[in-house]
Amino acid sequence: MRIIIVKDYEELSKKAANVISGQVILKPNSVLGLATGSTPLGTYKSLVKMYKEGVVDFSKTITYNLDEYYGLAKNHINSYNYFMDKNLFSHINILKENIHIPNGEAHDIEAECVLYEQSIEKSGGIDLQLLGIGRNGHIGFNEPDLTFEALTHMVKLDKDTIEVNSRFFENIDDVPKKAISMGIKTIMRARKILLLASGIEKAEAVYKSIKGKITPDLPASVLQLHPDVIYILDEDAASLLS
Ligand code: F6R
Repeated sequence: MRIIIVKDYEELSKKAANVISGQVILKPNSVLGLATGSTPLGTYKSLVKMYKEGVVDFSKTITYNLDEYYGLAKNHINSYNYFMDKNLFSHINILKENIHIPNGEAHDIEAECVLYEQSIEKSGGIDLQLLGIGRNGHIGFNEPDLTFEALTHMVKLDKDTIEVNSRFFENIDDVPKKAISMGIKTIMRARKILLLASGIEKAEAVYKSIKGKITPDLPASVLQLHPDVIYILDEDAASLLS
């Protein structure tokens, strides 16, 4: 595990964008696993800038998002489809057919999950998976649990996650209670993992995920077992480590 500590969110975003663009420059048809949430926003902004400056070309890149709310239409302002389009995809030259996000409107969720896994496999597996981390240590929407849920599956969101994510909704009751998420095994199969964390409210989860015991109660702790993980942390998120 490599831990890179930077001064602030801006530096974190630039470093993360460098890692991702480096991956795409070295292997243009890379398969990227992508995340939503506040943390990667700066990274996506930097990637868009790099694309506009001609530094990186996404025309052969394939992406798979970690998760999507269950029951929200694709064009709903709070869907992760909408988020990705607004913050990254509509600004770069990625092909629509190379973008994959779990379908939160699927009638047969189990079949959707199986198809998602098969599609990742058919694309050759994820080369680089970008992750944020929840205050409760979740990665994707793999919430603290008694076991590590393996593959893409339907999740019931934690009270804490619903509360935290309600900042994007008008009303906490509007936050979906379920989501479709890649599982821990899906994430762990990625050849390289890049986890980003910014802010003091992430410090405890970051500390436990790196120094704590490996337990499904703190899902990110499983990353200790992955052979190629980079953490990029700002000073606040890293503050309990030293
Ligand atoms: C998002 C995701 C989540 C977030 C996590 C942190 O696709 O899977 O695990 O990465 O909830 O969210 P932010 O970045 O908003 O603090």
